[in-house]
Amino acid sequence: MSAEVDRAADQRLLDATLAYVAKHPDSKLDGFRDAVANWGHDWTGIAPVHLTASDLLAEALALTKPATGEQELMDHYVRERASRYWEQSYTSADKAVGDDMLTYYGYTEIVGKRGPFISERVRAGIGVFGANVNYPAHRHAAEEIYVILAGSADFRLGEGAGPERRTAGDVINIPSMLTHGFRMTDEPLVIFYLWQGGDLREKSSFV
Ligand SMILES: [Fe+2]
Repeated sequence: MSAEVDRAADQRLLDATLAYVAKHPDSKLDGFRDAVANWGHDWTGIAPVHLTASDLLAEALALTKPATGEQELMDHYVRERASRYWEQSYTSADKAVGDDMLTYYGYTEIVGKRGPFISERVRAGIGVFGANVNYPAHRHAAEEIYVILAGSADFRLGEGAGPERRTAGDVINIPSMLTHGFRMTDEPLVIFYLWQGGDLREKSSFV
């Protein structure tokens, strides 16, 4: 596995991500399209960091729906997974977050405040969660979109809301400060996410 910055891989993922957002048919993405298309100008190299989540990503490719934009985007991220900087927002100091989540979750960003393509406007990347992991209810000032690329989870959107199953291809819009959480089913979940507004590196508050 490469331990080097791979600018060409970054560019391939940026191009795939921009194209995916530009042509996605769901109107819930409309409010994000301008920010994504005009993300910024600057690139910075970020050396790869491996997490178990990147291995789960490769396994989850088999769960995508054939001949969809989601499968195509997943395929790009799977191919470039070894050159990605995989990270987590939480640590064991976050009491709401279980050990299972810390072991089997991670995300990698292609556009955002820290790069590799630097943006003050928008954040884009994918998140990976292992089977049966629970992401506890949390909220943040940023407005968020999730598109499920593979797998499924039971989402709670809003304080006290009951769980609703969402599967590959579903798009979820999370307004600023809406409490949200989700529990994976017996298969892993891969989401494409977009953030805008607020601090793009804001840490979520658990509620
Ligand atoms: Fe969120």
